[in-house]
Amino acid sequence: MSKNPKKEVIQSPKGMHDLLPDDFKIYEKVIEKSKEIAEFYGFLPIATPHLEHTELFLRPLGETSDVVEKEMYTLRTKGGDSLVLRPEGTAPIIRSYAENGMVSWPHPIKLYYYGSFFRHENPQKGRLREFRQFGIEVLGDTDPIIDAIIIKIPYIVLSELGFKNVIVHINSLGDKNCRPVFKKELLNFYKKKFNYLCKDCKRRFKESPFRLLDCKEESCIEIKSNAPQMIDYLCDECKEHFKSVLEFLDEGKIPYSLDNYLVRGFDYYGKTVFEIFSKGESSNAALCGGGRYDDLMAFLGGKPLPSAGCALGVDRVIHEMKKNNLTQIKEKNPDVFLIQIGPAAKKRSFVLIEELRNAGVFVSESLSKDNFRAQLKIASKIGCRIALIIGQKEAMDGTVIVKDMLEETQDMVTQEKLVEKIKSILKSASRGGKTKR
Ligand code: HAM
Repeated sequence: MSKNPKKEVIQSPKGMHDLLPDDFKIYEKVIEKSKEIAEFYGFLPIATPHLEHTELFLRPLGETSDVVEKEMYTLRTKGGDSLVLRPEGTAPIIRSYAENGMVSWPHPIKLYYYGSFFRHENPQKGRLREFRQFGIEVLGDTDPIIDAIIIKIPYIVLSELGFKNVIVHINSLGDKNCRPVFKKELLNFYKKKFNYLCKDCKRRFKESPFRLLDCKEESCIEIKSNAPQMIDYLCDECKEHFKSVLEFLDEGKIPYSLDNYLVRGFDYYGKTVFEIFSKGESSNAALCGGGRYDDLMAFLGGKPLPSAGCALGVDRVIHEMKKNNLTQIKEKNPDVFLIQIGPAAKKRSFVLIEELRNAGVFVSESLSKDNFRAQLKIASKIGCRIALIIGQKEAMDGTVIVKDMLEETQDMVTQEKLVEKIKSILKSASRGGKTKR
């Protein structure tokens, strides 16, 4: 018996959605703007597989991180390997660096990537199971100006997409020298509050104490307000590094707010961490997150590789752009519409349209429609300056009627003269002649 007796249309999986044409155009706008700014700053494109070996994410993200513990889509191959749908893009970039001998490339290496990532989250506002990111990574540089550039790029992208009141929340997590001292203080503090912690935080206390600072439970937020802060425990080197990052942000007039409890969800971070918000944003979810991850390569068994990066949450950006009317997209309409009447004309049009494309003419058509008036109506609706008309006679003698939709004049031209004629009409329009739109 059918499992679907009502024959309902199958839906997309929970937390995963289609990008319909209107949203796809906004998606492309976000990606194009991100690419433009990243390329200006010398970043090169890279793409890594959607599937990776499970171990790649275990240590770098943290065995007790939410993503590793609950959110990875894991599958076993026929050969017995354990693979996951990539939950994030940074560990794969580091894998690719090691695998492809990038160590011999001139450093720092600046890379950007975009595409889908997968986390089995509880779908709620701003959280999807398939979501899209635009990420940038700088590999092989400790200079604090790199951290500042990594923050500046998404800040400019968002500002140029029209976002107002963009603000960077920033903190330093110190390094492997000073963080253990802070960890001890944090445990001392939370030991006294243990009985008041939520169930998850009781577990975090034992497994990953920094994540105590990330709890969203009201009661834990209250306890956190008196917890020790990493900034007070930074060693001289980390303090100097952080101060320098903030000075660059001041210099670049990038608005930021110190968030002493910002820890982020993955173990690979050290020193700078940040998230970017747009104030007044509906879901109050970060539009971008990132930071420095000098120890990630060592987690994977390689030599230390000081690096920093971030990723823009493209779905959240699209959602906010739609909400705030930032989606106006200037579309270029075709200049020419091809109208055909009769079977011979349809056949000729099938070939002619490609010849016009090769000659650089932006031409539109409705080849499956046969009715003359219906086609003319479309040409007029699109606002094309020129309609090309091919009837039975023109199909036979190799001519085309060129109708100037604005001047309301028409000429019959031979196919050899067609492109020249089209270009001369369009040239007169661009010289400030009357325009149809
Ligand atoms: P992340 O904070 O997990 O960092 O993700 C970056 C951004 O992706 C978030 O700020 C958010 O906008 C978006 N995002 C994350 N999860 C979801 C979700 N479930 N649904 C919708 N959007 C989401 C990373 O992934 C790091 N790899 C970033 C990085 C690069 N750090 C250093 N280099």
